[in-house]
Amino acid sequence: MKLKRLDGYLSKLGYCTRGDARKFMKMHEVKIKNERIFNPSLKAIHSDISIDTEPLDGETLTILMNKPEGVVCSHDDSGKLIYSLLPSRWQDRNPKLSTVGRLDRDTTGAILLTDDGELNHKLTSPKSNISKIYKVTLAHPLKGDEALIFGSGELILNGETKPLLPATLTIVDELTVLLEIVEGKYHQVKRMFGAVANRVIALHRVSFNSYTIDDLAEGEYKIL
Ligand code: URA
Repeated sequence: MKLKRLDGYLSKLGYCTRGDARKFMKMHEVKIKNERIFNPSLKAIHSDISIDTEPLDGETLTILMNKPEGVVCSHDDSGKLIYSLLPSRWQDRNPKLSTVGRLDRDTTGAILLTDDGELNHKLTSPKSNISKIYKVTLAHPLKGDEALIFGSGELILNGETKPLLPATLTIVDELTVLLEIVEGKYHQVKRMFGAVANRVIALHRVSFNSYTIDDLAEGEYKIL
């Protein structure tokens, strides 16, 4: 376990800037092992620090959100950003929280956000083969050959050179399916249905890896 300066923790975890640490410590009860501290240059281990009787936020933060419609998975878009749904302290962490992959503005459902760059890289790597299950609402009734085409491992999307890995289609009714994919290509689900002359009118990610959002309302999140 590493000793680090209090102002380092406070700025890295988004409580205040390094320069404002002294002021922050006057206004909030920052304690090391139950002793109130006012000197921001003192060093401590993470687990010994509390702020206003709460333990310090985790050194890394990974959360699962049920993404609502209308927010974008980007740090620099002009629209409403997914990060704006989080407590402001979490928005000020350094390194920043980033989404693990992206969902389109109009897609809802399970998305992870993390400030652990290594974890993010591992989960988004094309080799990761992580299962993602989408509930898809279609504009036109299924024709009947979609499961075979998606499962073939031979479907090449427009603009791509390699075929998609096999995907599993489960029919709910003629306008609703569950689709399990293990890749995360740009607009993949919409392009797959485009390739079979259909159109996605609503898209909801039911699960990412083993994470499901059954217990989360739209816009809600939980720490993993
Ligand atoms: N595929 C899409 O087309 N859009 C998403 O948001 C996710 C997967």
